[in-house]
Amino acid sequence: MHATVGIIGAGPAGLLLARLLHQAGIDSVVLEARDRAYVEQRQRAGILEQITVDALRASGAGERMDREGIVHHGIELRFDGRSHRVDFPALADGRNVMVYAQTEMVKDLIALQLAEGGPLLFEAEARGVSQDGDRVTVHYDRDGREQTLTCDWVVGCDGFHGVAKDAIPEDLRRDYERTYPYSWLGILADAPPVYDELIYAHSDRGFALASMRSATVSRLYLQVPNGTDPADWPDEKIWDELDRRFALAEDPAWKLTRGPITAKSVLPMRSHVTEPMRHGRVLLAGDAAHIVPPTGAKGLNLAAADVIVLARAFARYRQTGSTDLLDTYSKTCLERVWRAEHFSYFMTTTLHVAPEQSPFDTRLQLSQLARVAASRHAAAELAENYVGVRLDGPLG
Ligand code: APR
Ligand code: PHB
Repeated sequence: MHATVGIIGAGPAGLLLARLLHQAGIDSVVLEARDRAYVEQRQRAGILEQITVDALRASGAGERMDREGIVHHGIELRFDGRSHRVDFPALADGRNVMVYAQTEMVKDLIALQLAEGGPLLFEAEARGVSQDGDRVTVHYDRDGREQTLTCDWVVGCDGFHGVAKDAIPEDLRRDYERTYPYSWLGILADAPPVYDELIYAHSDRGFALASMRSATVSRLYLQVPNGTDPADWPDEKIWDELDRRFALAEDPAWKLTRGPITAKSVLPMRSHVTEPMRHGRVLLAGDAAHIVPPTGAKGLNLAAADVIVLARAFARYRQTGSTDLLDTYSKTCLERVWRAEHFSYFMTTTLHVAPEQSPFDTRLQLSQLARVAASRHAAAELAENYVGVRLDGPLG
């Protein structure tokens, strides 16, 4: 089988890229190791920057997002027993974010790609990528036998544990890594959110985040030690701890609405960047190239930004034969990646209480949060990073 662009991975990056290429008249084949049901049920974040919203619309898969997504105009910070709202439009040139679960975005992209796109092969696990001049070959297993996909280009959208990054020779590849001394216990609950916007809470017991999936489903997280077993957290213990961490001195009666917890998982916190994001005719996009702690809600949006830039580059190459945008792809994306890495690091280290953290460090965190609450400039810096720095030029 041959494709102009071979895509490894059917997560948001791979699926969105396949759709944007389809819209540009460029054929692709997507190879996904897991089955459709697994890919569609993986719980991930749910905050879309405007560029991601625009890209999903440009891909042709934005209709349900426009119908079911919830536009959010700010977030709330809670710290030191008080609350402060960060007003996005007022601080970030009128921009907002959209709450729409990654699971739903993936379902929409898969359905459309299967209906009118190029081949999307599930249970097709890539084992390696080899390059020979202008031909790139993906070696993969499917239906119990080894198969090959020859391509003009291969894009590794295969996440942190993918194989595409191995196509970058070790002597040319640089990996940057930070791990955090805590994790998140994340839950889904059939409980209507009692809040209109996301609440990020700093407390002496640790971080907590109140998000949502709909008017009837809450998505909540609390900081736990690395290695925590979700089984050690029965429902009532979770709800009690969340209420403690969101406690408000000005409103002691404030409590979350409780309901059956339908999903419970522990996710580690880490930052990672692989440079460069290209070697020859193999390019990396999304989590295959970079990981951010979820505190800044950047993972999905960085993946979208990569494939928007890449789809433009492939379209330019198809129209003009120029590889100029392909040649600058890695540099263009890494500028945005490192901005998002820093913002995610800032949000994570400002809001979480590390084990054995000194009282001095805690006072520094509270001083930074008080600064955001008191200074328009500090609040604007957070708002601009949260809604996302702009990608210049039209999509596609
Ligand atoms: N062959 C084929 N598919 C593979 C292989 C392989 N060898 N290795 C991994 N995959 C698939 C995974 O099964 C997964 O479906 O690649 C996909 C990678 O998807 P994601 O990990 O979701 O990465 P990405 O598409 O970049 O999206 C980033 O997803 O993980 C979240 O927080 C992250 O929100 C961010 C978004
Ligand atoms: C989520 O809704 O899952 C979510 C929202 C914001 C974050 C992280 C996760 O910063």
